[in-house]
Amino acid sequence: MSAPLPPALRRYAGHPFWQAVAILVLAYVLVVWVVPLLPGSAIVPKSVVLQYMVTVLVGVLIYVSDSEARWTRFKEPINAMLVEPRLRVVRSGVLTAVTAVVGLVAYGQVKTTVAAPPNLRSIHPAPPTEITFRGKSITLTGLENPLRQHADSLPTYLAEGKQVYYRNCLPCHGDHLDGLGHYASGFNPLPANFQDNGTIAQLTESFVFWRVAKGGPGLPREGTPWNSAMPKWEDFLTEREIWSVILFLYDQTGWKPRTWEKAESGGAK
Ligand code: HEC
Repeated sequence: MSAPLPPALRRYAGHPFWQAVAILVLAYVLVVWVVPLLPGSAIVPKSVVLQYMVTVLVGVLIYVSDSEARWTRFKEPINAMLVEPRLRVVRSGVLTAVTAVVGLVAYGQVKTTVAAPPNLRSIHPAPPTEITFRGKSITLTGLENPLRQHADSLPTYLAEGKQVYYRNCLPCHGDHLDGLGHYASGFNPLPANFQDNGTIAQLTESFVFWRVAKGGPGLPREGTPWNSAMPKWEDFLTEREIWSVILFLYDQTGWKPRTWEKAESGGAK
């Protein structure tokens, strides 16, 4: 049993304008606060809330304009708010609120954000098929680490790669090759964590060669916009030094480089 509504409330409850307002508020509360509480659901994204509210609004407008009489009654409070002297305060309030909301939305859209959009960039963009390294052109497709051909010299190359790493890569990529070097926290994106199965473990050595040689500046459009601090090592290391540091990275982490039989693109995920 429900208690009868007081007469003033009943007048509101029977009025199409306030019915419409109530339905919109209810729909909003439902989708923003109630739906996320349901088992297995998460917060509803803003774009979905907007879509849902527009659908509800269209439904409400169809309902209130369904008969001429209801449409006239629906418009009464809006007309009154716009013209009646006794509603001056409400009118000013609504005008201020509308102006403020439009202003805030416009501000929100033009305001620059500091964070790069995380999901738009490709972490392992497709590499070029060919690069020029210090004026010499190198075909990346199908290329393996040439140092691996000399099995008996591998220990020498590894020792050299280790030196190259500790002299050049340590401050960013870290003592443990985990991307946590002393300077790492200053960079966004963070230096790559070679221990993680998402970096060199996924890549062919020729892809890694390209990334080391050309660094952040060599990333193609899909790899931007992001301000990678990864230097362009072509300017400081020889071809052999780069191949040897790559040997060291795989040897030290225990990952096996991706091979060309398995990878057509050389590492694009
Ligand atoms: C100034 C800091 C800095 C130094 C020094 C540095 N790196 Fe990086 N490196 C980065 C950052 C930041 C990234 C992540 C962004 C990117 O991929 O460009 C990265 C990414 C990489 C990647 C790409 C990994 C992947 O999954 O795509 C490789 C390979 C790499 N570095 C190797 C090296 C090697 C080898 C050296 C030393 C010769 C080195 N880096 C020195 C900052 C640095």
